[in-house]
Amino acid sequence: MTLLNDIVSADGRKGGSGETLAIRGGRPLRGRVEVKGAKNLVTKAMVAAILGESPSILRDVPDISDVAVVRSLLEVHGVHVTDADEPGAFVLDPAEVESAHFEEIDAHAGASRIPILFCGPLLHRLGQAFIPDLGGCRIGDRPIDFHLDALRKFGAVVEKLPSGIRLSAPNGLHGANIHLPYPSVGATEQVLLTAVRAAGVTELRNAAIEPEIMDLIAVLQKMGAIISYEPNRVILIEGVDRLRGYDHRAIFDRNEAASWACAALATDGEIFVGGAKQQEMLTFLNVVRKVGGDFEIHEDGILFRRGGELKPVIVETDVHPGFMTDWQQPLIVALTQATGESIVHETVYENRFGFTQALVQMGADIVVHPHGLQEGPRRVPRRNLEQAAVINGPTPLHGADITVPDLRGGYSHVIAALTAEGESIVRNVGIISRGYEKLFDKLAALGADFDVLG
Ligand code: EPZ
Repeated sequence: MTLLNDIVSADGRKGGSGETLAIRGGRPLRGRVEVKGAKNLVTKAMVAAILGESPSILRDVPDISDVAVVRSLLEVHGVHVTDADEPGAFVLDPAEVESAHFEEIDAHAGASRIPILFCGPLLHRLGQAFIPDLGGCRIGDRPIDFHLDALRKFGAVVEKLPSGIRLSAPNGLHGANIHLPYPSVGATEQVLLTAVRAAGVTELRNAAIEPEIMDLIAVLQKMGAIISYEPNRVILIEGVDRLRGYDHRAIFDRNEAASWACAALATDGEIFVGGAKQQEMLTFLNVVRKVGGDFEIHEDGILFRRGGELKPVIVETDVHPGFMTDWQQPLIVALTQATGESIVHETVYENRFGFTQALVQMGADIVVHPHGLQEGPRRVPRRNLEQAAVINGPTPLHGADITVPDLRGGYSHVIAALTAEGESIVRNVGIISRGYEKLFDKLAALGADFDVLG
């Protein structure tokens, strides 16, 4: 196995691009990995630091490219980001926040969707903001209408330009009554980051209540915000005049934890996921048990293994506390090894089964039904998208030449290659570093047999 830093590229640079892996699968993954702070909390907590009048400290920050993108976006806006007194911790000092220039933001934003969350904090600090057009995504068109509607209700003037969106708040921002059409995670964060300094009270209904949202509320409360979480997805925010910096250790990454758990199921291995906690994984752990997996809850993490033959399940993705949409990709890889017919309903995104094409190429029996399979009432009013994947197993997977489509699908391609007999070439692997810290080191620690090609 050749690791990244063993490769000397043609021009003598140490380390290849890390874009392509040759993986020889068919062997169980065994060992321990540590998951750090959740990508989908850390990036938002970094933006929240703009609202403080003193520096913030954020701990357990994973070394991933999505964090690097937000760090450079903050620096472009005059926030000084330095390493703190422990590994994986940042000091974020917003004292010199000023408005950046479009070309600088665009050069740093990449495919990130986080820039949209700068709106509220920048409007409070500077009275204006400019957000470049956000990249779409392969899992759906990722609109921001909920965000812009909410910002207008706070009193922002939103001007759509060919290159992006310019916002201003000529009369400042005031509290608002906002009822989200769908419990959108991003729109809920948009409202939280804007309401905490708006004049008056904001009532948010049909809010997202994911653990990462609750952790962002904890961050804002540490800063001096007054936020109450009411029954039935209602959140009340009393605007305050001043916020200070926070010191916060991020919640662990539930998505990465679930991904390694599914890798243990798919390869019939045994993986201890350090940092994983039961409370935030309850729904996922129920599905692990139903599919025939086994887990042990420990003080410092969760041990995952197959309990015997894998069994088929019917799963519907949903907003929290349902089965997360980000969990279905790695689960489906494990379901290719289950005996019988499984059904996964994707109800959050429009197009989140694209990754299954590579699994079929490797021998999986998966049929995607664009219009779903079931009718009937839903716990959360459903948007008009229903898609279902029917997986029949067990099917032995064989190596193939596959290309990673997006972050979560990409990780599932790696698990599939590790499950398959023979060698797979997995291309465009760099996307995975957006959300999984030290992927190659972790795979090596679990005994994976792979080479990092140029
Ligand atoms: C966040 O995306 C996460 N990303 C996603 O993780 C996660 O899958 C998703 O929440 C659901 O849990 C980050 O936190 C950076 P949404 P977000 O707003 O906020 C529609 C990953 O790989 N919608 O809850 O964009 C939207 O199109 C990513 O880490 C509107 O219609 O998700 C989608 O169908 C993948 N209008 C649904 O709502 C809007 O204005 C849920 O989106 C906003 C959203």
